[in-house]
Amino acid sequence: MYSLRKVALCFLFGSGSAWGSTSTANKAQTDVLRYVDPLIGSDNGGNVFAGASLPYGMAKPVADVNGQNTGGFSTDGSNITGFSHMHDSGTGGNPSLGNFPLFPQYCPEDEIDNCNFPKADRALPYIASSVVARPGYFSLTLQNGIQAEMTAAEHAALYRFHFPEETTSNGSALSPLMLLDLTDEWDSRQNASIEIDPATGTIKGNGTFLPSFGAGSYVSYFCVDFAGAVVHDNGIWVNNRAGTDPKKLYVTRGFNNFYIQAGGFVRFNRPNDGVVTARVGVSFISTDRACQNAMQEIPSPLEDFDTLRERAETAWREKLSPISVEAGGASDALLTSFWSGIYRTMLSPQNYTGENPLWDSGEPYFDSFYCIWDSFRAQHPLLTIIDPAAQSKMIRSLLDTYVHEGWLPDCRMSLCKGWTQGGSNADVLLADACIKNLTGIDWNLAYEAMVNDAENEPLEWSYEGRGGLMSWKRLNYIPYLDFDYLGFGTNSRSISRTLEYSYNDFSLATVGKGIGKEYTKYLSRASNWKNLFKADQKSFINSTDTGFTGFFQPKFLNGTWGYQDPIACSPLTDFCSLTSNPSETFESSVWEYQFYVPHDMATLIKLLGGPDEFVSRLDFFHTSGLADIGNEPVFLTVFQYHYAGRPALSAHRAHSYIPASFNASNDGLPGNDDSGAMGAFTVFSMTGLFPNPGQNVYLIIPPFFEAVSFTHPETNKTATIRNVNFDNTYKNIYIQNATLNGESYSKNWIGHEFFTEGMTLELTLGSEESSWGTRPEDLPPSLSTVGTQILDDFPF
Ligand SMILES: *[C@@H]1O[C@H](CO)[C@@H](O)[C@H](O)[C@H]1NC(C)=O
Ligand SMILES: *[C@@H]1O[C@H](CO)[C@@H](O)[C@H](O)[C@H]1NC(C)=O
Ligand SMILES: *[C@@H]1O[C@H](CO)[C@@H](O)[C@H](O)[C@H]1NC(C)=O
Ligand SMILES: *[C@@H]1O[C@H](CO)[C@@H](O)[C@H](O)[C@H]1NC(C)=O
Ligand SMILES: *[C@@H]1O[C@H](CO)[C@@H](O)[C@H](O)[C@H]1NC(C)=O
Ligand SMILES: *[C@@H]1O[C@H](CO)[C@@H](O)[C@H](O)[C@H]1NC(C)=O
Ligand SMILES: *[C@@H]1O[C@H](CO)[C@@H](O)[C@H](O)[C@H]1NC(C)=O
Ligand SMILES: *[C@@H]1O[C@H](CO)[C@@H](O)[C@H](O)[C@H]1NC(C)=O
Ligand SMILES: *[C@@H]1O[C@H](CO)[C@@H](O)[C@H](O)[C@H]1NC(C)=O
Ligand SMILES: *[C@@H]1O[C@H](CO)[C@@H](O)[C@H](O)[C@H]1NC(C)=O
Ligand SMILES: *[C@@H]1O[C@H](CO)[C@@H](O)[C@H](O)[C@H]1NC(C)=O
Repeated sequence: MYSLRKVALCFLFGSGSAWGSTSTANKAQTDVLRYVDPLIGSDNGGNVFAGASLPYGMAKPVADVNGQNTGGFSTDGSNITGFSHMHDSGTGGNPSLGNFPLFPQYCPEDEIDNCNFPKADRALPYIASSVVARPGYFSLTLQNGIQAEMTAAEHAALYRFHFPEETTSNGSALSPLMLLDLTDEWDSRQNASIEIDPATGTIKGNGTFLPSFGAGSYVSYFCVDFAGAVVHDNGIWVNNRAGTDPKKLYVTRGFNNFYIQAGGFVRFNRPNDGVVTARVGVSFISTDRACQNAMQEIPSPLEDFDTLRERAETAWREKLSPISVEAGGASDALLTSFWSGIYRTMLSPQNYTGENPLWDSGEPYFDSFYCIWDSFRAQHPLLTIIDPAAQSKMIRSLLDTYVHEGWLPDCRMSLCKGWTQGGSNADVLLADACIKNLTGIDWNLAYEAMVNDAENEPLEWSYEGRGGLMSWKRLNYIPYLDFDYLGFGTNSRSISRTLEYSYNDFSLATVGKGIGKEYTKYLSRASNWKNLFKADQKSFINSTDTGFTGFFQPKFLNGTWGYQDPIACSPLTDFCSLTSNPSETFESSVWEYQFYVPHDMATLIKLLGGPDEFVSRLDFFHTSGLADIGNEPVFLTVFQYHYAGRPALSAHRAHSYIPASFNASNDGLPGNDDSGAMGAFTVFSMTGLFPNPGQNVYLIIPPFFEAVSFTHPETNKTATIRNVNFDNTYKNIYIQNATLNGESYSKNWIGHEFFTEGMTLELTLGSEESSWGTRPEDLPPSLSTVGTQILDDFPF
């Protein structure tokens, strides 16, 4: 029924534009990969995946540590426990994936029982200066002198382990040992099987594991074979003992959930060059498929390493090629933050097309949407510009997940449903794709999936859909301590869910109007946020009045106000998540959420006391410690001065956070990268165009470089945003005036046509705030100022 995809635009009517010309981009000659540093965010909780990967690749080999191991490796000074083949990047749940690690070692005196098998026993420091992390390549040397190098294909990883020569006390050569552990980063294994071919040392197996921030379990398969060394012996290990007789093993959890450490091993005669090559195929379908993946993608393990690495580099260059920068003397550190940020947005979601065991529909299947609450704000909008074909496939994958699992995902990892953090924010991704003309999407299906979110409450709304829909429809807000017997979820977040559901319904109205379906009902619900605004609410910090009146507050079913301190859940107080201190706002305070009305900033600004008062609030928020720059809800607040007619202050604010909180060091992210969300924030901020996702709006500030160009991969037209009077010491960061395609341009925002039509925006800078972009007619659209036009593809 859904197999026929309509390759149509979301909007029924549209007029062509004569602007722009197809031009060959003036590509910088420097290799941009030079500016990609995969180690950014490898410490300080960035949880970034630092290893080798293709763009959106499923195979992601890296060294695993026993410290900050959420993304596998960290430069936090902890020890190496193995080298595993799949990871997530930047996530904040439990450590993710990292299944079936390999670990190289020698057994003293060549006695197998002298080897260290369990994780804690085998963990070893690495030589800090030995770490090399490049696109498509990762390498380090363990303290014992063994070096591990790795590169990646789509569903297979290739390792070279270099064993230095070592001998027993009587002078005979030691035999390199490779162990394989039936575990993952989180030790979540439920049961697992392994089988070793005695002649070749090939190890195959499978295991059932738990998703790191979701429900259920998943089965993962692997197939490892070795090359370059003659097999000496092999077998299995359990705890600290190993034997060569058994060649098979099955482990499970006993009645008390006991976790046994176990796996297989292969020993080799040390080859002259000391190199043992390991080729690892991974799959979610079967062991045979894992072996096929390995053989197809890495046909000659002894010869393919450099080719694979070069192929990965080429793939990354290609993915980064739509963008070019004229640095204008901006520092290499800023260039590195910028290019690395783009790189990280293409580590996840991961392309599991052909590897989905749950259904087979012929549609693309992407996984590791981890989580959309983080990624809808900047990461997916960036992919929409630089890789619209991939973004369109991701959207199709979300819709196909709706078809087969009944709901759009809000978070998804390892083939499982992840926990919902706020609203049903896939709705925003769909509206964003619609308004930006992504092709290949079945918009009737998209509308149906969004209506499902808006109208039908699932039994389990902790991982799909929305809760509290009876109240949402009847009372037009999510009540504090709702009486909801239809479905189950953490009964908290009434304020943040009211705000997010309002925007989600606005997104639904956008798609509905676009394809000529019912939308007025959802447009009306898009104003529900107003119902939680308590006009006389004050906010105190240590008994001192912040001086601002009027905040969102929780409201009971009977209409009586509840209370949540507006500063609760901010960095000044306690963190509030689903499990720790669940509150009426999620991972963010009333102070931060008060700015979350992306579709009607004009009304919000009025409620908050007018533009000047609004600007004071934003300033206070950003300078008092209330802003949590380490988490995604803060993103848009950096640029919302635009809506008060003060675009200069957005520029000022962006410079206060970059590079102070987002920079090119290993600890250079203020929080979890969240699959590249922080990377995308950095990139958009430095580009000078920040999206209001779900709307055809980018807020303009001066780029951090002299100029940034984007060649649209489908139209081939090149858009350029250029600073005149660019100052690389960033004193001139205020736009004095602007031209678009040579004509004076005074709006402080621009639409997506800028990219698709290849326009040129020139910004003349000065050191003082000017009147540019400050008049009412210069401001971005709001529902209350432009009416339903805001739903149209109308910006010019
Ligand atoms: C979307 O396509 C329509 C019709 O071709 C066009 O008028 C409109 O400008 C496009 N919008 C964007 C954001 O590119
Ligand atoms: C790393 O291993 C070394 C030696 O085995 C040990 O001394 C050190 O405490 C370990 N460090 C961590 C962070 O576990
Ligand atoms: C040296 O020690 C190894 C292992 O301990 C043993 O197998 C080998 O026979 C010994 N060789 C000599 C020459 O003693
Ligand atoms: C493995 O564990 C999973 C999850 O606990 C369970 O559903 C499955 O039946 C187990 N499989 C085997 C073969 O024991
Ligand atoms: C895992 O492998 C074992 C041994 O080959 C096999 O019996 C079992 O069915 C496999 N489990 C799954 C879930 O494929
Ligand atoms: C995803 O993977 C499939 C199968 O390997 C491939 O055909 C497709 O081109 C990939 N898509 C993207 C966007 O990388
Ligand atoms: C509130 O007062 C306490 C005790 O003096 C102090 O430690 C804390 O930093 C103050 N908090 C703020 C946000 O000023
Ligand atoms: C409304 O409900 C709350 C919570 O149960 C209660 O504290 C309050 O008194 C009620 N208000 C009225 C007017 O009944
Ligand atoms: C880089 O960013 C991190 C994380 O936000 C911050 O702690 C650090 O101070 C910044 N470093 C510099 C030199 O600004
Ligand atoms: C864009 O360029 C590519 C590669 O040169 C070409 O295949 C494609 O047809 C061009 N598309 C348009 C719309 O010009
Ligand atoms: C922009 O402002 C600069 C500095 O005030 C001025 O020299 C220039 O003529 C202005 N350009 C336009 C197009 O108004």
